[in-house]
Amino acid sequence: MTAYATRRPANRRNRISVPLPTMQQRCHAAPGIGQMSAQSAPRLRHRPLAAAPGAEAAMVNVPDQASPSTTRKLLGALRHPRRTLPAVRRRVVSRVSRKTPESRRRLILANVDVTGLGLEIGPSYNPLLPKSEGYRVRTADHLDRAGLVAKYEAQKRATDRVEEVDYVLDGGRLASIEERFDYIVASHVIEHTVCLVTFLQDCATLLRPGGVLVLAIPDQRYCFDRFRERTGLARVVDAYRAGASAPTEGSVLEHFLCSVRREGRRSWPAGFHGAYRHAFGRPIVVDRRDRAVRGEHVDVHTWVFTPNHFRLLVRDLAAFGYITLREKAFHDTHGSEFYVTMSAEAGGPPLRRPELVRLAAAEASVREPIVFA
Ligand SMILES: C[S@@+](CC[C@H](N)C(=O)[O-])C[C@H]1O[C@@H](n2cnc3c(N)ncnc32)[C@H](O)[C@@H]1O
Repeated sequence: MTAYATRRPANRRNRISVPLPTMQQRCHAAPGIGQMSAQSAPRLRHRPLAAAPGAEAAMVNVPDQASPSTTRKLLGALRHPRRTLPAVRRRVVSRVSRKTPESRRRLILANVDVTGLGLEIGPSYNPLLPKSEGYRVRTADHLDRAGLVAKYEAQKRATDRVEEVDYVLDGGRLASIEERFDYIVASHVIEHTVCLVTFLQDCATLLRPGGVLVLAIPDQRYCFDRFRERTGLARVVDAYRAGASAPTEGSVLEHFLCSVRREGRRSWPAGFHGAYRHAFGRPIVVDRRDRAVRGEHVDVHTWVFTPNHFRLLVRDLAAFGYITLREKAFHDTHGSEFYVTMSAEAGGPPLRRPELVRLAAAEASVREPIVFA
């Protein structure tokens, strides 16, 4: 018996079966969690959501009385449907899956009691829990505030939200932090770590009993890693044993050689169509590779995941004694990222290994025409 729902198009000539994960497969939270949500935190300013994220945007507005320019656009669209329809589709898909910072925060913190003491790892230019908004958090990053501002200004990113960093790691281990936390949040960080096992071990060390680690992780299928292979268990375990202190030459080469943009975007939601383009030319690829060879820390995505592939990987790491944290809750990809909550007390995914293998395998390919501009 299959655990998948099947979507059948009305047109029988083009009938295809698209496996849709069941609700249980898309989202899992262990019983007993989430009693205290971000909403109930007294000190924080949360704006209530009007509807499910993006639900309000699932339509294209056509004004009742079309202005001359709107009429011209509509006529143009009818004359050149091949040019116009993909653009319309892109806009609709983007709007449907759009998250506000508030709704994203709500999603990530669904299983966290934010009244406790938190640690945000790698907030850099985009803190999820800004101290300036009253969150009781410490922050850890690889540079201090001035260093982060300089780094991200050079990348032409807005730096007005960069906050003071409480623990500047500068190559040191997270486990050197002496405070202990009720929760740790790391958004778009785990894929940057030099050693995945050490990172998860250190997070376990920093958590108080009952504490949780919440990870927001980019989905390989919907970001610039689209044409990289997902990380296998062998690489993760071997990197742990090798004890590397900076991203390896191979990781840096692959990251810069394979990074793509899609219609100029670094990430995009499922269903978004558009041409790909390589993000970096050969001189940049060679320069970054050579820096890594010289021992410089070149920031890259060391690890590449899809949701169930990640769940399987950490399940296996826990099952064979490399880490103590296990999955407590899981939320499948929304937009271009997915969410995993882990704790030492949790039991792991509520799925048997073969089922996770099957789900991870199903994520290995994306059905879409691949076009490079
Ligand atoms: C892409 S940024 C993420 C920024 C932000 N959290 C967000 O969601 O947009 C990655 C951040 O993770 C930090 N980082 C990567 N590995 C880390 C580690 N092992 N310990 C602490 N910070 C780390 C980097 O310094 C960088 O600030």
